[in-house]
Amino acid sequence: MKKDYSWFIQDRFGMFIHWGVYSMPARLESEWLQYIEKISDEDYSRYTDHFDPDLFNPEEWADLAAKAGMRYVVFTAKHHDGYCMYDSGFTDFKYHKRDLLGEIIDAFRKRGMQIGIYYSLIDWTHPDFPYDQAPHPKAGQPFHGNMLNYRKYLFDQVRELLTKYGKIDLIWFDGSYKNKDFDNEHIWDASNLEKMIRELQPGILISRLPGHDDFATPEQTIPQQGMFDKDGNPMYWEGCQVLHGGWGYTRRLQWKTVPELVQMLLRHTTRGGNLLLNVGPTSRGNIDDRTAGLLAGLGNWMKYHSRAIYGCTGAPAEFPEPEGCRYTWNPEKKTLYLHLFNWPDRRIDLPELGGKLEYAQLLCDGTEVQFSEVNTCYNVHGAESVQSSAARLALPVSSPENCPVPVIELFLKN
Ligand code: GLC
Repeated sequence: MKKDYSWFIQDRFGMFIHWGVYSMPARLESEWLQYIEKISDEDYSRYTDHFDPDLFNPEEWADLAAKAGMRYVVFTAKHHDGYCMYDSGFTDFKYHKRDLLGEIIDAFRKRGMQIGIYYSLIDWTHPDFPYDQAPHPKAGQPFHGNMLNYRKYLFDQVRELLTKYGKIDLIWFDGSYKNKDFDNEHIWDASNLEKMIRELQPGILISRLPGHDDFATPEQTIPQQGMFDKDGNPMYWEGCQVLHGGWGYTRRLQWKTVPELVQMLLRHTTRGGNLLLNVGPTSRGNIDDRTAGLLAGLGNWMKYHSRAIYGCTGAPAEFPEPEGCRYTWNPEKKTLYLHLFNWPDRRIDLPELGGKLEYAQLLCDGTEVQFSEVNTCYNVHGAESVQSSAARLALPVSSPENCPVPVIELFLKN
């Protein structure tokens, strides 16, 4: 069955949402709290008993995402604690008053976004989850459950998630682990799981089901040169990143700034990757002001620069990046975008672009950037100097105001 990557490479920028009862303790351990503090199911119920998201309004979340320029969403329907943030017919360990996932899907879909569901393979509260070898609060204790029951539960819930909510574009698994005694393929019956998923949702993309995933998912790290398979072919990839070093809501961490986030986005797009940027709503269900402010800041930049992101990828190797800069490239429009992480003094030379440039402008306000052609020696490939014909851009003395990363749009001659 044909997988549909078209939206994935067009949209480039999505919102990850980690929301569950672990947003109540809101500690640094976040969604791993139950495991790290070895909290029994009974004690953990103090959270599930008191979870009351009275401020939950997915329309607001979707607005914030849309204004930030995000084009898809991945929501944690069930995280490792096993608590379902949707109205599952297969467990009582869920929020009962509203179908949170269903409302989120409606709100984001209304704004034209693609829909992704995160589902944890690990489950800390299901009695039949084989916890003897997994990172699990009960790890090390003898296991008396029946793993096949858990497998059935997993299949039932995935089928439910993929039949109840219309078209789902992405299913994002998590929690497989490498252990020499733990056979991922066997435990999840991964081949049949994949088969079922693709039958239920033709075109869907699958993430992090070991051996059956459709793209790579570096986490809290960004590959400097992009990602390639063993034959050197570029891979589809999506980096999942955080605003402050953790996934669930907390006030306790150090936060990134808007310029850092813009650069983060570009470190993905300029290397052919997507950015899935996480937010952690509070236990009352709102996105806190600090997060909202960062999203708004990203949105201010995206408002003027999204055309250097959507449908773009890294530049072909024939266009080496000048120092301190990165390129994105729109292959359909044959347009290059020069992202200036530092503002140069009056001019910048673009190697290999001599004679190839038709027109250049600052993207923030469409001001023309004049250029000339020069022949210079460049140490382009880091090894030996080569003679190359460059386009020399004449830049204003100072960078455009309030623009964390200025971008110059470069139209090439046919
Ligand atoms: C890590 C964390 C997990 C989180 C995931 C998101 O694997 O352990 O809790 O959901 O990152 O990618």
